[in-house]
Amino acid sequence: MRSCLNLKLWFLNLVTLSSMLTLSLGTPNDVFRVKAVNLGGWLVTEGWIKPSLFDGIPNKDFLDGTGLQFKSVTTGKYLCAESGGGTIIVANRTAASGWETFTLWRINEDTFKFRVFNRQFVGLDGINVVAISNTSTDSETFHVVKETENSTRVRIKASNGYFLQAKTEELVTADVSAVRGWRDDDPTVFVTTIAGRMEGEFQVTNGYGPHKAQQVMKEHWSTFIVEDDFKFIASNGLNAVRIPIGWWIASDPTPPPPYVGGSLKALDNAFLWAQKYGLRIIIDLHAAPGSQNGFEHSSSRDGSQEWGKTDEIIQQTIQVIDFLTARYAKSPSLYGVELINEPLSPGVTLESLTKYYKAGYETVRKHSSTAFVVLSNRVGPSKPRELFPLANGLMRSVIDVHYYNLFQDIFNNMTIQQNIDFINTNRSSQLTFVTTSNGPLTFVGEWVAEWQVKAASKEDYQRFAKAQLSVYGRATFGWAYWAFKNDNNHWSLEWMIKNGYIML
Ligand SMILES: *[C@@H]1O[C@H](CO)[C@@H](O)[C@H](O)[C@H]1NC(C)=O
Ligand SMILES: *[C@@H]1O[C@H](CO)[C@@H](O)[C@H](O)[C@H]1NC(C)=O
Ligand SMILES: *[C@@H]1O[C@H](CO)[C@@H](O)[C@H](O)[C@H]1NC(C)=O
Ligand SMILES: *[C@@H]1O[C@H](CO)[C@@H](O)[C@H](O)[C@H]1NC(C)=O
Ligand SMILES: *[C@@H]1O[C@H](CO)[C@@H](O)[C@H](O)[C@H]1NC(C)=O
Repeated sequence: MRSCLNLKLWFLNLVTLSSMLTLSLGTPNDVFRVKAVNLGGWLVTEGWIKPSLFDGIPNKDFLDGTGLQFKSVTTGKYLCAESGGGTIIVANRTAASGWETFTLWRINEDTFKFRVFNRQFVGLDGINVVAISNTSTDSETFHVVKETENSTRVRIKASNGYFLQAKTEELVTADVSAVRGWRDDDPTVFVTTIAGRMEGEFQVTNGYGPHKAQQVMKEHWSTFIVEDDFKFIASNGLNAVRIPIGWWIASDPTPPPPYVGGSLKALDNAFLWAQKYGLRIIIDLHAAPGSQNGFEHSSSRDGSQEWGKTDEIIQQTIQVIDFLTARYAKSPSLYGVELINEPLSPGVTLESLTKYYKAGYETVRKHSSTAFVVLSNRVGPSKPRELFPLANGLMRSVIDVHYYNLFQDIFNNMTIQQNIDFINTNRSSQLTFVTTSNGPLTFVGEWVAEWQVKAASKEDYQRFAKAQLSVYGRATFGWAYWAFKNDNNHWSLEWMIKNGYIML
């Protein structure tokens, strides 16, 4: 009897001891961690999340940021900004890549500016076509006329009223007044190829134009994410949402064109619904003025990345943070403010980012002593702990890292098992490296159960998701899936949950 009791006690002690041990080592359950989903594509549009949003745009192939290449039917060669820009346009290239690509600024559905590789605008010097101006003026607009029967064949009319022609391989001029037909011996005819597209907030609003954009965006904001989605999120094991927003929300309802008002109302609703269903909100400045990474999701017009280059732009961004935290600091749902998403190195320097993060942190603290301040690591060439010297001194600060088994060549040929091993070994050690006992908390603010594997079964996806949940569950702040809704099923956490691919 006695020995049996002893054994029981010993066993009990062991259980208690071991649970104390694991507690002190920090199991995923001992502190609150966000299990969040990104409401991507809602308040900052991304075309690939909901392509149908772009369907009603007239001439929707020619949006801001679209890269066009023009092959002269007479020379059989491509137009090219000689030296990438700064001098003349020629028509002597047999193949097309960067220097032969002209990036659109859309003025209206058939009027454009063209930006060349070195970012000059195409314009005229007399009748010669050149790319020498760093700033855009009205004389640098061009009318693109498509052949009705075959829209890849175009003519380009310059601001002087004359059509462009490839006069010779070395000379492109704007001096043809009358044109007829679309014959292959006509030097005013060019065949276009689309070399790249952008589909973000700038493209959709500027594509529709002010009146229609207002209608389309209001409809999108009020239907893409609704109260029922918050209810679904809260009742399926999640406790927070990360909401990507654009800088123009701070001047709602009259943001500068092409943006339109109404996103603020949607964010207000999000706070009401979050409170109702007990969800926390992380506001994420996904699109900063000038674009911090040149991608469409930061609302770049044409791939340019201008954020951080001047104190004015940093100050403008601080005002957005000030506006948002002042507005929502009293809401019990405001959990964190992410000062900027995915600033891209080397365009965004550590110096300008640190300056911004310091000021941004102070700005949040002006209004809230409790909101977490989330600092996104730079993407591109950067060090995983480069924000530590700053973040170590900031109470309730969080480092955000984004882990995708995508976008890099190393993932191209990985098998299913290699992908899962990569999570369990490489991602795990990357996360451990940035998770320190007295440093900032860590947040895997974006991840997805999608990979480069071509044929994977439901079970494979389940294993892949489970491995990530287990590893990212050790992030001390938590994680957030990208995204909640998406036309691509695996990118939609709603779909993944409803179809039993992910269980939380
Ligand atoms: C345009 O910008 C480039 C690079 O910044 C500079 O070298 C050039 O002088 C500028 N050209 C004009 C006309 O301002
Ligand atoms: C359109 O024009 C291009 C270039 O001349 C040609 O290659 C293509 O076959 C044409 N398409 C049609 C449908 O005629
Ligand atoms: C194209 O023409 C320009 C201007 O004459 C010349 O500098 C350049 O070398 C030519 N390029 C090719 C590939 O022929
Ligand atoms: C991936 O596999 C393809 C086809 O098997 C091969 O052509 C390619 O070189 C591989 N890429 C890498 C990065 O290993
Ligand atoms: C992942 O980690 C393992 C073990 O440290 C290492 O050998 C491997 O090179 C890493 N894989 C990649 C793709 O970085």
